[in-house]
Amino acid sequence: MTFGLGMIGCGGIGNVHAQTARRAGIKIMGAWDILSDRAALLIEQHGAKGSQAVPSIDALLAMKGIDAVVVAVPNDRHCECACAALKAGKHVLLEKPMALSTEQCDQILSAASASAGQLQIGFVCRGTPAALTVKQWIDAGRFGEIYHIKASLYRRRGIPGLGGWFTTKKHSGGGPLIDLGVHVIDLALHLAGHPKAQRVSGATWSKFGHPISEYRYTSMWAGPPKVDGIFDVEDGAMALIRCAGGLTIEVNVTWAANIPEGSTKDGISIWGSRAGTNFDIFGKEVSIATEEHGMLVDIKPQFEATNPMEQAWDQQYRHFQEMVVQRKTPFATGAQGRSLQAVIDAVYESSNLNREVEIG
Ligand SMILES: NC(=O)c1ccc[n+]([C@@H]2O[C@H](COP(=O)([O-])OP(=O)(O)OC[C@H]3O[C@@H](n4cnc5c(N)ncnc54)[C@H](O)[C@@H]3O)[C@@H](O)[C@H]2O)c1
Repeated sequence: MTFGLGMIGCGGIGNVHAQTARRAGIKIMGAWDILSDRAALLIEQHGAKGSQAVPSIDALLAMKGIDAVVVAVPNDRHCECACAALKAGKHVLLEKPMALSTEQCDQILSAASASAGQLQIGFVCRGTPAALTVKQWIDAGRFGEIYHIKASLYRRRGIPGLGGWFTTKKHSGGGPLIDLGVHVIDLALHLAGHPKAQRVSGATWSKFGHPISEYRYTSMWAGPPKVDGIFDVEDGAMALIRCAGGLTIEVNVTWAANIPEGSTKDGISIWGSRAGTNFDIFGKEVSIATEEHGMLVDIKPQFEATNPMEQAWDQQYRHFQEMVVQRKTPFATGAQGRSLQAVIDAVYESSNLNREVEIG
C-alpha cells in the first residue's frame, strides 16, 4: 500500500511524520520548507530514490509521483498550504489544529469537497493503544451512559519555542488550548461518539515567561527561547463544555503552572453509568472501574503497548494509507476538525467575555 508523499514543513513534527512514513513503507518523494536546509536534510535522511528538496510549495505540488502531502508548518500556514494541496488534487494529512478559525476551516472544507484528494486531520492521540482499548469498551456499551469526561494535560514548565511562532498569537492562534487542548478535547469528543458541543465556559491565563529571559524551563520543543521574541498567548486554560444529550467535558491544559511533578494526572477520565476510567493517553495499561456479580471490580484489559507513542503514529499512518490507496474514510475528518475549532474559538471568546457562550 505504498504511494508518493510530499512533506510541507520539515521541522520537529515533520521529521516524526517522515520517520513514520518510512516505517509504513511510504515513499517520501519531495520536501519543502521555508528553511531550505531543513528540507534538504529530511530528504537526505528519509527520501526515496529520485526524491528531492524543492524551493517552493508550487514546485512540490507540481512534482510527478506525489499522491499525498503532509502539512506540518506553523498553524497560520495550515489553511493556505492545505487548500493549495487539495486544489492540486493531492490527499492531505494536515497537522492539528486544523486552522486558526472556523472561517479558515470552512475554506479548507470547501477546497476538500472540490478536490479528488481527501483530508485527514492529525489527531494522533486517537490511535494510542490505551485510547483504542477504551474506545472498544465504549462502543461495546460497557461504560453505559457517559455523562462526564475530564481531559487534562499539565506541564509544569513546558512552553514550546518560547518567543517563536508557538507563542506568537498571529502565527499559532493561541497557547496550550490550541496546542495541547485540541488533542485532549478531540479525544474526549471522539470517545463520546462526537456529540454536538453546545456551550462553553472557559478561562485562560498567562503567568509565566514575562520577561522571557526569566523563564526557567525543563524542556523546550522547537527551542531554544528567543529572548527578544513574542509571547502574547495564554500559558494555561480551562473549560467546561456542555454537549447535546447532557455530557459535560472539563478541560485543563497548561504549558506552565506551579504543580508539583506527578501530583496531577494527565489523561482522560471517563465517568459512565456502568464503568469509568482514568487513563494516561500514552500509558501501557488501563484500569476500568465497574461492577461484576454484585462486586466492585477494577478490570485491566489486555492490549499490546510496547511503544505507545510510536504505535499511535503507526495507527495514524495505517488510516492515512487506507484513505489514499483504498479511498477509505479518514481517521479524523475535516468536519470533526472544524467542530473542534468552533469549541476552541468559543473557549477564547468565553474567556474574553468572562461568561458562558454558545458554540457557533
Ligand atoms: N501531532 C502532534 O503531536 C504535534 C506535535 C508538535 C507539533 N504539531 C503541529 O505541527 C505543526 C508544526 O509544528 P512543529 O513542532 O514541527 O514546529 P517547528 O517549528 O519545529 O517546524 C515548523 C517548520 O515549518 C517551517 N516554517 C516556519 N515558518 C514557515 C512559513 N512561513 N512557511 C513555511 N514553512 C515555515 C519551519 O522552518 C519549520 O521547519 C504545527 O501545526 C503544530 O501544531 C503537532
